[in-house]
Amino acid sequence: MESIIITGANSGIGYECTLRMAEIAPTHQIVLACRSVESGHKALQEIKQQTNHPNLICLPLDLASLQSIKDFTAAFSQQPYPSIAVLVNNAGIQNVGETKYTEDGFEETFGINQLGSFALTQLLLPLMADDARITFTASGTHDPLQKTGMPAPVYTNAELLAHPKETTEKAMKVGQTRYTTSKLCNIMTVYQLQSHLENTHIHVNAFDPGMVPGTGLARKYPPVLKFISDYVFKALILFMSNVNTAAKSGKRLADLAFSDQYRNTKGKYFEGEKEIKSSADSYNKAFQKDLWDTSLKLTNTHFRLPQVKSS
Ligand SMILES: NC(=O)c1ccc[n+]([C@@H]2O[C@H](COP(=O)([O-])OP(=O)(O)OC[C@H]3O[C@@H](n4cnc5c(N)ncnc54)[C@H](OP(=O)(O)O)[C@@H]3O)[C@@H](O)[C@H]2O)c1
Repeated sequence: MESIIITGANSGIGYECTLRMAEIAPTHQIVLACRSVESGHKALQEIKQQTNHPNLICLPLDLASLQSIKDFTAAFSQQPYPSIAVLVNNAGIQNVGETKYTEDGFEETFGINQLGSFALTQLLLPLMADDARITFTASGTHDPLQKTGMPAPVYTNAELLAHPKETTEKAMKVGQTRYTTSKLCNIMTVYQLQSHLENTHIHVNAFDPGMVPGTGLARKYPPVLKFISDYVFKALILFMSNVNTAAKSGKRLADLAFSDQYRNTKGKYFEGEKEIKSSADSYNKAFQKDLWDTSLKLTNTHFRLPQVKSS
């Protein structure tokens, strides 16, 4: 039996993705990789009740800690089914309050959304099945042309994103810019990873769930803005094409990550079910290389091809 790993499986889009995955992958082991084991187990029980899936497990994973990422990898590799068919890098945050740092001293949003997911992927690569699939939950907010209302990403260099200089700009703008930049980084990582995996059958793609009001992503917003995000934006689901429920986006994410329809798709960016171009910056090779090299250095990881046979 092979495994499917979903990060941030206890909440929002990740929860709905896991629920859908339990329906379409009944013979795989599904691993809920969650920061809070308690919340992860609660999600597991709910999904088990709804789907009767016999092989759901929850393992602790804090992407704000390189040690936790290593511990997760070690715990997973000791499981009876340590061959990975699917990895969904979905967990993410948006901190619009005061600047915070991960256990390893990286700015929190870049540290979790980019470096944490990057390190996890690098450490799990040796355990990938030779036709494994990796999907990152990105965001349309990475592209200024999408006019999402979020500030445009600012890619300077990865070192500066990990260790930003102090700024007098408003925390909201700074936090939102860090978020959109981290999502740009996820997409550049997809393109770089796919090119490094060129001679394998492992496929890597990026997914934009659209605007999904009501998940935990806006939890750090001031109360009024959180109310607007949770309730007022929900009304937009009826009128706007790329505003979705978590259930709809989670289902689409699971389908992209696992279904046969996308089996041969690689190195692409999806807005929901539609393959589209990502932003101009995301194709910038100098940015991509700086991000790849610096992410390896900062996370002290090494790109290693899967141990299983690949051609
Ligand atoms: N909602 C939107 O409008 C939207 C739009 C575009 C993209 N996205 C992306 O969709 C993904 C899921 O977000 P969501 O909207 O579903 O929000 P959410 O409900 O807050 O889910 C985020 C998940 O990430 C987990 N997480 C956060 N920090 C973590 C850490 N340090 N280690 C491990 N897990 C961590 C959370 O765990 P806890 O519950 O323990 O905090 C939670 O399970 C994110 O990558 C987000 O950027 C969302």
